[in-house]
Amino acid sequence: MIVLGIESSCDETAAAVVHDGHRILSSVVASQVAVHHPYGGVVPELASRKHIEAIVPVVNDAIAKADITADRIDGVAVTQGPGLVGSLLVGFSFAKGFAYGRGIPWVGVDHLEGHINSVFLEPDPPPFPFVALLASGGHTNIYHVTSHRAFHLLGQTRDDAAGEAYDKVAKMLRLGYPGGAVIDGLAARGDPGKVMFTRPFLDKTEFDFSFSGIKSAVSRYIQTHPATDRNDQAHIAAGFQAAVVEVLSYKIIHAARQKGCRHLAVVGGVAANRGLREAVTREAAEKGFTVHIPSLDLCGDNAAMVAAVGYHRLKAGERAGMDDDVYSRMKFKPIRK
Ligand code: KG4
Ligand code: ZN
Repeated sequence: MIVLGIESSCDETAAAVVHDGHRILSSVVASQVAVHHPYGGVVPELASRKHIEAIVPVVNDAIAKADITADRIDGVAVTQGPGLVGSLLVGFSFAKGFAYGRGIPWVGVDHLEGHINSVFLEPDPPPFPFVALLASGGHTNIYHVTSHRAFHLLGQTRDDAAGEAYDKVAKMLRLGYPGGAVIDGLAARGDPGKVMFTRPFLDKTEFDFSFSGIKSAVSRYIQTHPATDRNDQAHIAAGFQAAVVEVLSYKIIHAARQKGCRHLAVVGGVAANRGLREAVTREAAEKGFTVHIPSLDLCGDNAAMVAAVGYHRLKAGERAGMDDDVYSRMKFKPIRK
């Protein structure tokens, strides 16, 4: 089955063509970073307008790169939420129209479900059950994943998401937006032992996170020790990254152990973080776990992960209706265990 995936929940307009939920025929991502950069964050109204401009060319590009014609597409999967409503509506309305016009089925997909399923686009996906850490600009959640469609929330951030903390610290250090990748690069050149920041594990046996404390600690440190050159910035970035990575890797490995899962996954924009990838891979190997982290292209927002989820839904006979609407906030508050 060939599924066209569409994603427009935030500041990326993306389309992808995926075969049987795992083989990517094409994946196109049009980033709006340059549009939002001068404002230091995503401006929702500008995001919607850019999605409108980009959606048709991006979809056409994805179909052309997949080397197919539109009549080969069996179904459409589109991100329904969570995200910016104005942005979501662009992809969602396009998908409705495209599917209706071509007389093919379509389904709405949860963005977080998409990130979790991104590991199935890699050659060696995890067997069920596994635990997954989803760390992005909007969420930091740990799940126990028992099927393509069933995941149970074990813990989540009580304040900022990990990616949000990265972006805020980057702003404090005047490194521009978005800051995750810049801090990651700088951290590699700094000494993580030079400036130590608190590690908010909360309760070590629980899986909830808190990142606003680390962010405030960095802010206080910068007020008393202004970063005057690239070296100072690098040490602060390294200290901040060490604290975030230690908490994230501790909790996901602890979750795998507690759930008796040998396999764990790290997904979402922050899964692109070099420090996090290294730390989780090393610690998991030491403790006998197998780690699945998607390639960099599949960590950030993309439409291939949306098509991957859509495949399973369409195959199960699910169909969206013309009255369906987008949603802005995390929808499924799955069973806490
Ligand atoms: O998944 P994603 O592309 O969008 C959301 O669903 O939010 O995640 C974006 C987040 C941003 O906060 C960005 O700063 C962060 O992922 N990010 C990183 C890195 N690359 C992107 N954070 C840390 N290290 C990175 N290398
Ligand atoms: Zn995302």
